[in-house]
Amino acid sequence: DTDAVARTAADVVQGCIERTGAGRADDGPGAVLGLATGSTPLGAYRELIRRHRQEGLSFARAQAFTLDEYLGLPPDHPESYRSVIRREFTDSVDFPDGAVHSLDGHAPDPVAEAARYDAAIADAGGIDVQILGIGTDGHIGFNEPMSSLASRTRIKTLTEQTRRDNARFFPSEEDVPHHVLTQGLATIRDARHLLLIGLGEAKAEAIAAAVEGPLAAACPASSLQLHPHTTVLVDEAAASRL
Ligand code: GLP
Repeated sequence: DTDAVARTAADVVQGCIERTGAGRADDGPGAVLGLATGSTPLGAYRELIRRHRQEGLSFARAQAFTLDEYLGLPPDHPESYRSVIRREFTDSVDFPDGAVHSLDGHAPDPVAEAARYDAAIADAGGIDVQILGIGTDGHIGFNEPMSSLASRTRIKTLTEQTRRDNARFFPSEEDVPHHVLTQGLATIRDARHLLLIGLGEAKAEAIAAAVEGPLAAACPASSLQLHPHTTVLVDEAAASRL
């Protein structure tokens, strides 16, 4: 169920923080976490906030990179993913100043911004654990169907289905941006451990295509089959087509 998924996802993140030495003064470079927005990881973030407050789990030596961003929204727009991840998670724990990295959807040169982001992830030593939700069309990040399996961080155009799915966060569907910046499928697969979370019946078909379907650009999440260390966490409803 959703609570067990949230706890298990939090266990993976906590295990990564403990293994990479954060919270101990003596060793380890500190965890590099890849964070997804959307409703799916919210339970995991709430559980991590609870462990921070009640059990002393510390992010003081961790860094985080968000997955994607709408193009054209100012960074402080309430629905920019930079704002969302701060509001839903990172502002409620103890990441150091400057340790939560996001794409700038308002950068004057988005192509250069995408290249800067890939370089920043590499400079940090790569991502240890990448949390991922999944779109109803099988997208991860904002890599829509037919995205190149070899793609790096770049500009993408949203499908009408994704704009409809995400319209609930905006006054109307017309307000959902058409363009985004997203880590590419190969960028995502550079992370050492991928944690794909699917919740609810609406995700059942996409989860089945990702896990049991052919490796195909038609289902971008199927590219996780190429990765040596992927964990898929689903509730009963999201697992119903497996
Ligand atoms: C957006 C995000 C994805 C997310 C997906 C699913 O399109 N770019 O990273 O996985 O939505 O969202 P939700 O978890 O709200 O269903």
